[in-house]
Amino acid sequence: MYQFDKAQSRLNSSCTKWDRYKSRYQIEEDVIPLWVADMDFECLPEVSEAIRKRAAHPIYGYTDPPKELYDAIIQWEKRQHDVEVRKEEIIFNTGVVYGFYTLIDMLVKHDEKVIVQPPVYPPFFNIPKSLQREVVYNPLQHGQGGWHMDLQHFEECLKKDASIRMFILCNPHNPTGQCYTLEEINNVMELCKRYNVWVVSDEIHADIIMPNQHHVSALKCRCAYHDNLILLGAPTKTFNLAGLKISYAIVKNAVLQETFASVAKASGLSSINIFGIEALIAAYTKGDQWREECCAYIYDNFLFLKEFLANTMPLVRYEIPQATYLAWLDFSALQVPADFAERLKFEAHVELQPGIGFGKAYGAYQRVNVACPRETLKEGMLRIYAWLKKNRYL
Ligand SMILES: Cc1ncc(COP(=O)(O)O)c(C=O)c1O
Repeated sequence: MYQFDKAQSRLNSSCTKWDRYKSRYQIEEDVIPLWVADMDFECLPEVSEAIRKRAAHPIYGYTDPPKELYDAIIQWEKRQHDVEVRKEEIIFNTGVVYGFYTLIDMLVKHDEKVIVQPPVYPPFFNIPKSLQREVVYNPLQHGQGGWHMDLQHFEECLKKDASIRMFILCNPHNPTGQCYTLEEINNVMELCKRYNVWVVSDEIHADIIMPNQHHVSALKCRCAYHDNLILLGAPTKTFNLAGLKISYAIVKNAVLQETFASVAKASGLSSINIFGIEALIAAYTKGDQWREECCAYIYDNFLFLKEFLANTMPLVRYEIPQATYLAWLDFSALQVPADFAERLKFEAHVELQPGIGFGKAYGAYQRVNVACPRETLKEGMLRIYAWLKKNRYL
């Protein structure tokens, strides 16, 4: 049994999540950060051990990916997602975001466009925009069984605009936690094939799956669509290793393998971190049990959150997500102010991720990261409840 209940201070560790309140916002009190997507859990002990072992060798020069690294990914993808991957299909990256940044720059011309499905992880539209590529939106539809792709609107967009050249799929989806079905994936892949659109499937959340749910890798789609697909994967969300800067692309298209590998090399994208190599190998070869227990702990946190909301603010809409450790809360019935998240940060000392960042229409939502000891989550939620009461929103 691994320990996920242990509160471990992350202060003064150059930590994005915890270390900014005093220096950036001049907040002296402790703030509970339930925003950025990393976990407050200690990682798999074998990962720390592998890093310590490598650190003991005092030369940290450039790296080449060893065979064990390829093997670890090939076996992980087979074991966890039932997909066959070959060594030459793996192209290492120093991060998923940098991966799709490079792919957009490589595959989408300046007068071409990228299509995304809000509400979605902000870099999906901010990065194309920063590269001066226009973005087309196909909003997800909320209905029975969660948040679904609007394939009819998707096709209308592609039909109307032949300059749409890339679709970035979030699979599973951040922030809704949706796991797409094989049918949905095949349908959207078919459209992309027909209209000559690249599909980048960001699967960084693929291994944080709730009980009785199932992640379908985009690589499970019909082989006929493989040439259009680039999968981006990483151990960094699942095993809490984001600071180690290691991720990978899986590319079936042989021509694309070559061009992507050479662009990745030229841009430094493929120059992976020396400790990231050891961490990935340890996580993917020794982390199955840890991953399972971690998902179970996260699920219990979701259950806790559900009960807490039902008892204190039942009008806040929330469904336990199918994947990820992110809860997507709809506060619209409470009519909270537009600067709700800012006020919570400064007045209640708890930080959430405002929904507005995930798309213009989602100002009433807040994303809550539950990957922390239950006591931390409870304290954060109690602070939100007290603020809502004090300010008469409840
Ligand atoms: C969908 C998605 N993709 C990518 C990332 C970040 O990946 P990386 O740190 O490897 O750039 C995140 C982080 O939250 C994410 O949610």
